[in-house]
Amino acid sequence: MHIGVIGTGYVGLVTGACLAEFGLDVTCVDIDGEKIEVLNKGTIPIFEPGLEDLVKKNLKEGRLHFSKDVASAIKNNLVIFVTVGTPSNSDGSCDMRYVKSVAEMIRENANGYKVIVNKSTVPVGTGRWMRKFVAKDVDVVSNPEFLREGAAITDFMYPERVIVGAESEQAIAIMKDIYTPLYLKETPFVITNIETAELTKYACNSYLALKITFINEIANLCEYVGANVDDIAKAMGLDSRIGSKFLHAGPGYGGSCFPKDTEALVNKSKEVGYDFLLLKTTVEANKRQREIAAKKIINALDGEAKGRVVGILGLSFKPNTDDIRESPALYIAKRLIEEGAKVKAFDPVAMDNARLILPQISYEKNAYGVAEKADAIVLAVEWNQFRRLDLVRISKVMEKKIFVDLKNVYDKKQLQSLGFKYIAWGK
Ligand code: UDX
Ligand code: UDX
Repeated sequence: MHIGVIGTGYVGLVTGACLAEFGLDVTCVDIDGEKIEVLNKGTIPIFEPGLEDLVKKNLKEGRLHFSKDVASAIKNNLVIFVTVGTPSNSDGSCDMRYVKSVAEMIRENANGYKVIVNKSTVPVGTGRWMRKFVAKDVDVVSNPEFLREGAAITDFMYPERVIVGAESEQAIAIMKDIYTPLYLKETPFVITNIETAELTKYACNSYLALKITFINEIANLCEYVGANVDDIAKAMGLDSRIGSKFLHAGPGYGGSCFPKDTEALVNKSKEVGYDFLLLKTTVEANKRQREIAAKKIINALDGEAKGRVVGILGLSFKPNTDDIRESPALYIAKRLIEEGAKVKAFDPVAMDNARLILPQISYEKNAYGVAEKADAIVLAVEWNQFRRLDLVRISKVMEKKIFVDLKNVYDKKQLQSLGFKYIAWGK
């Protein structure tokens, strides 16, 4: 079967490479011609573990192709995956311009029965709108992705479930055919209608965002009552109804999905007349958390950041990615610069992206360069490189020994025994 994938961002690239790995013939297209040139050379413009090898292998074996010609990709393929960006508008609603432009291309170029598969996260109702708008012999399917950046290949190849929202038996059969390698592995499929699949994606991301925000709020409360949030998270996680995942306190969630999807769902709810109170509060509480993190650091500097040197470890929105979209670490760096601090930083892969946003930061070669002459060092992203720092060496090169552990990685007593003033969340 021949598949077209429109949009070669984080999701489109992973989807194209993995479907080719399933043995399908896949053409990935993008309006960004430069990106296509780079991809045809087998180079990946994003950091995603394992992706480069997968793309190179499938390019070589002739199942994966890259092209700028969106029209031909629509004409020549039975199934078209839509994986273009769906960023936020300033009011939090979903910016549908890229999806709309793809729908226009399909309306102009569809030359026979097509299955259009929305993998990008799109507002509820988009699929039904798209089928009406395209007004041709097409079926529209919602097949939302649950890929975590840094683990996207694994998440695609070993999903815990596949959601298919479709209205025609033919489209459902085609989707099952595409996912045969998974189907044979007994991966659970949830086959439902389009709106249900679209809302399921938002429900999952919103619930995960809510769960993270909940433990962040508990962490804040711990500081008022002298409780330990790590122990609480452990004890909560041992209840199978709660589960231990996504109970790690920190400066709040970031990335290109949770912030965007939670705000889009609040917006969509309002649009249809429902006041989604719990999600609105989650969005607000998450915004507050990164501000609390910045204040933690300023308070650790006795309330005065002006003229002080602060080193930040990690700038991406989470480990194993170069993605800095909505990164709490970058927000905190900006706040400290606004307060007049001199900010140094190191990140294993995200510094090139960060430099475009915050050139004022002095970017270092490693964690020890960051610690050099710093009054405070902030662990902002739990990259493995930062989990076993040579703390004696760090303490020797710092001006003051303030350690702000925004991901609760270290042991308080250990740091205090080395003479650090140790600040973290709720412990
Ligand atoms: C996207 C959506 O943003 C997200 O909501 C969804 O959950 C997954 O898909 P991502 O892959 O990270 O996430 O998008 P992005 O990194 O912005 O890449 C989108 C790609 O589509 C870009 O390369 C862009 O050039 C391309 N594009 C955009 C097209 O090919 N055609 C268009 O009309 C518009
Ligand atoms: C998320 C969803 O996990 C994925 O299913 C969906 O398809 C896309 O959005 P992603 O945004 O790549 O994936 O990152 P994820 O690993 O979920 O982390 C999201 C944010 O939450 C990060 O900023 C991370 O640091 C934060 N987080 C995660 C916490 O603060 N605490 C946790 O316990 C877990």
